[in-house]
Amino acid sequence: MRLCINIDHIATLRNARGGTDPDPIAAAKVCELAGAEGIVVHLREDRRHIKDHDVWKLRETITTKLDLEMGASDEIVTIALDIVPDLITLVPEKRQELTTEGGLDVIAQKEKLKNVIAKFHAKNIPVSLFVDPVIAQIKASKEIGSDMIELHTGEYAEATEEQELQRLLKEIISAAEYGKRIGLEVNAGHGLNYKNVSSVAAIQQIDEMSIGHSIISRAAFVGLERAVKEMIALIK
Ligand code: PXP
Repeated sequence: MRLCINIDHIATLRNARGGTDPDPIAAAKVCELAGAEGIVVHLREDRRHIKDHDVWKLRETITTKLDLEMGASDEIVTIALDIVPDLITLVPEKRQELTTEGGLDVIAQKEKLKNVIAKFHAKNIPVSLFVDPVIAQIKASKEIGSDMIELHTGEYAEATEEQELQRLLKEIISAAEYGKRIGLEVNAGHGLNYKNVSSVAAIQQIDEMSIGHSIISRAAFVGLERAVKEMIALIK
């Protein structure tokens, strides 16, 4: 199981004062030194956290893997094609949302997403689609040429009632098994934290996890290096 860390909220903190601290580039380096196997950033249309210059600088400095999370808008696709990250994760993006809400409706946007994936493949950039653990969406992802899926674990992460948790976990397990069976790499993420990560990490078919908020939050108390190492210890 690989851990990739989303460092968007280092930029959120930096932007709160409009200066340069804390520096997302330095944070990425600490995460890598602590054992992270990839760095994830979401270049949102409103640039509320990560800015274009951050992504360019990360492209130069990251030695593991740069996963650029993005909505499939023409503007961001053009920028991503210039930057050439190691992985593109396509997500739905709504302006007013606090964070990504729900997975992509791949079925409803098959043609559009197929064209966007083809553009990235022409530059040898693999593409992952962020989807809910729903078989039909995973099947559609494979049909339009996606290399990977990232299973949305947000609903599972928010559940509090034991029966509901077990039902949602089963959904994630079935989705991961199906994704692997049809030849996709399977990642997972959203809302995962030090309490709920273990049951998802135990799913053999999941190759990688993308975790941000809980690690950056814990880092405020124990430091980033320790927060990363504690998460790695839980998922390995
Ligand atoms: N994966 C995707 C596709 C996301 O949009 C996010 C949030 O930016 C994450 C993973 C990380 O979620 P969290 O910050 O809740 O760990």
